[in-house]
Amino acid sequence: MQRPFSQAAENNKGPIAEVLARYLDHGDLLEIGSGTGQHAIWMAPRFPDVRWYPSEQPENMTGLNRWLEAHPSPSLQAATMLRVQGRWPEHRFRHVYTANTFHILSRPLVERCVQHLCEHLTPQARAYIYGPFNYQGHYTGDGNRRFDLHLKSQSLSMGIRDQEWVVALFARHGRVLLADHAMPANNRLLVFH
Ligand SMILES: C[S@@+](CC[C@H](N)C(=O)[O-])C[C@H]1O[C@@H](n2cnc3c(N)ncnc32)[C@H](O)[C@@H]1O
Repeated sequence: MQRPFSQAAENNKGPIAEVLARYLDHGDLLEIGSGTGQHAIWMAPRFPDVRWYPSEQPENMTGLNRWLEAHPSPSLQAATMLRVQGRWPEHRFRHVYTANTFHILSRPLVERCVQHLCEHLTPQARAYIYGPFNYQGHYTGDGNRRFDLHLKSQSLSMGIRDQEWVVALFARHGRVLLADHAMPANNRLLVFH
């Protein structure tokens, strides 16, 4: 079996790492929905003091493991099987990172995800959410409008989320928006503290 490949992950890993470099000091980082693992294998060596824990749903573990095995690095940990609606690791993390998952998960699953990830953060921890977001119900560009229609043609439970809704979900768990970084291709990197 060939390794799965994401061109988007190749394109956005550099800009994401540049922003994360301002925040990732040390400690354990849980990545939710690692996908192919292209982010994990690229970021882990760049942040040697951060133990990077990739995770995925059971059906995508094989592809993820192929990338992790091909690119080992000291801070890169073995992948954890994690479905947002299932059991989460007992561990507490200083950082939780997820890219391009909030528009894939249904709204109830985004709520579950935020609840669980807040429960799994240490008190001083931060969460980093990367992807496209709407502001006050408006798309930030035509590309995002087309992408949202494409998602909804696949499943009505998918779609670009409102940034304000995500901020309110984190606020329910006592976490505040620390920064909202503009990223290439009309994406954002939201940082919660
Ligand atoms: C668009 S991909 C993003 C992958 C990777 N983070 C990236 O940016 O290239 C969305 C990922 O979310 C994962 N995912 C979808 N539903 C999930 C769930 N219920 N629990 C955990 N992960 C889920 C998928 O398996 C997939 O890898």
